[in-house]
Amino acid sequence: MHVDRYEKMWIWVSAAFLLALVLVLAYTTCGMGIHLPGSGDAHAAGVDHGTAAPAHVTANDPPFTAPGVRAVGPNRYEVVMTAQVFGFEPNEIRIPRGATVDFVVTSKDVIHGFMIPGTTVNTMIIPGQVTHVQYTFDKPGEYTFFCHEYCGIGHHVMSGRIVVE
Ligand code: CUA
Repeated sequence: MHVDRYEKMWIWVSAAFLLALVLVLAYTTCGMGIHLPGSGDAHAAGVDHGTAAPAHVTANDPPFTAPGVRAVGPNRYEVVMTAQVFGFEPNEIRIPRGATVDFVVTSKDVIHGFMIPGTTVNTMIIPGQVTHVQYTFDKPGEYTFFCHEYCGIGHHVMSGRIVVE
């Protein structure tokens, strides 16, 4: 069979491209090569990454041993949450309208995301670190939150919901 010289070349190019994609995917899935910005960078950017004391916070340390929702004041709530492949705990949160919620989140395994469409909540969840994010839910209804950092085979099912009553 005669295969044109250029055709042959493009077959090799696309095969190499495919191999590169697979390698990148394998590399990032293992969570390797991803480095946190230094605390200096974080401050420069005005972002609180919730950098914990050097002794790494793990999901086995309080308050993460008891994830859940608690009232901490008048229409003020704290949600202690863990992210893990492939879900959040708690994955259903019920709060009254107008509640201000402080989310305190860590990961039990790899890097995850935490995003609530229709709100300003959009952050990374990093193992060994605690992410703090606050939002006031003025509009009643149902909010679906999900992981928006690729974390593996079940990434697309990693979600939960907040019901504002
Ligand atoms: Cu967790 Cu994607």
